[in-house]
Amino acid sequence: MARLNHHYRKLTAGYLFPEIERRMKAFQKDNPGTQIHRLGIGNTTEPLTPGVARGLEEGVKRLAAAETYTGYGDEQGLTELREALSRYYESLGAKIDPGEIFISDGAKPDAGNIQSIFSADSVIAFQDPAYPVYVDSNVIAGRSGSYDGERDNYSGFLYMPCREESGFIPAPPAQKADLIYLCSPNNPTGAVAGHRQLREFIDYARRHKAVIIFDAAYAEFITDPGLPRTIFEIEGARECAIEINSFSKFAGFTGVRLGWSVVPKTLVVEGGEPAEVHRCWLRRQTTFFNGASNIAQRGGLAVLSPEGLRECRELIGYYMENSRIIKRGLQELGLTVYGGENAPYLWLKTPGGLTSWEFFDRLLQEAHVVGTPGSGFGPSGEGYFRLSAFGHRADIEKAMESIANRLIL
Ligand code: MLT
Repeated sequence: MARLNHHYRKLTAGYLFPEIERRMKAFQKDNPGTQIHRLGIGNTTEPLTPGVARGLEEGVKRLAAAETYTGYGDEQGLTELREALSRYYESLGAKIDPGEIFISDGAKPDAGNIQSIFSADSVIAFQDPAYPVYVDSNVIAGRSGSYDGERDNYSGFLYMPCREESGFIPAPPAQKADLIYLCSPNNPTGAVAGHRQLREFIDYARRHKAVIIFDAAYAEFITDPGLPRTIFEIEGARECAIEINSFSKFAGFTGVRLGWSVVPKTLVVEGGEPAEVHRCWLRRQTTFFNGASNIAQRGGLAVLSPEGLRECRELIGYYMENSRIIKRGLQELGLTVYGGENAPYLWLKTPGGLTSWEFFDRLLQEAHVVGTPGSGFGPSGEGYFRLSAFGHRADIEKAMESIANRLIL
């Protein structure tokens, strides 16, 4: 008799974004004709830039001509793209060999799958709040105990609280962890870890022979030149860190699908041989995944060209202007807002002691604006609320006007 992986039953209430969608649809059904402003999911809205679109077109043309047609590509992804990424890292001050880069169809699958190459009894530490994929993928893999509704956490996991007083950057765990998930610029808080803070984690990882899974999907949103854009800027990271990144938010590829991971050959785990982690990830990817689309990879190459970088950084500037509009608007209403300066997410303290979901409902019912409840990202997110800066300018302005005119504070 077939039986399900029973760990799925431990997952709480369903994935956060479908729940938001459900409440939004219910509101729309009860209020037909009301315009809803969506600042919930971090989904890109602006068209691909001209140079990047030409790169994708070039990908299609190559597939349509006998001389340039390709089927399955190189195991780790298009060599030219990995070489371009290696040069991109060099421009950030990090030395990464193209052979250490794995092209994928996005950061989310990599963030969910990477845990599978580590031992089933690994102790996992998460930032709290965190992007739900890190926690859920480890629950599904059976690394947690049961969900505790009162504490809103899973037994067996180490939660690293991100608190207001420490700028939402956590300290390394007091106990010994084997795998540590870090995301900077952070989704959901918009906080960015500085060199010193990353160094503390690297020191911890080296001391405990732990591995850091560093999600840098929002690195291109950093405007402060003093902040690290890759963990590999920090000495010692090549011994203990894997970095995951994506073209989604960087170049508007949320629907195109393209990302990459860096697994250094110098990363060694307890009882492991040199480069074994790298080989394991190669084995995992070549067993379960047949590579990113040839077309998308040509688009990625165009993103990394000087013209592509200039255009995509302009696009990021557009979203960051949205972010400034949202932040200023909320602050003018007397609300406390964090983030949004080196990240496309704003982290708002819910007013009047409302819970995150209470504020979600109020914002939707009164101002017709959808955001994301902070508690959906972990217990320390309770009492906070995330707004995303992805959106058309006119919609962002309308949303802010609606909040200013309709939200009862
Ligand atoms: C978010 O809203 O947190 C992101 O859109 C999620 C994602 O990129 O998968």
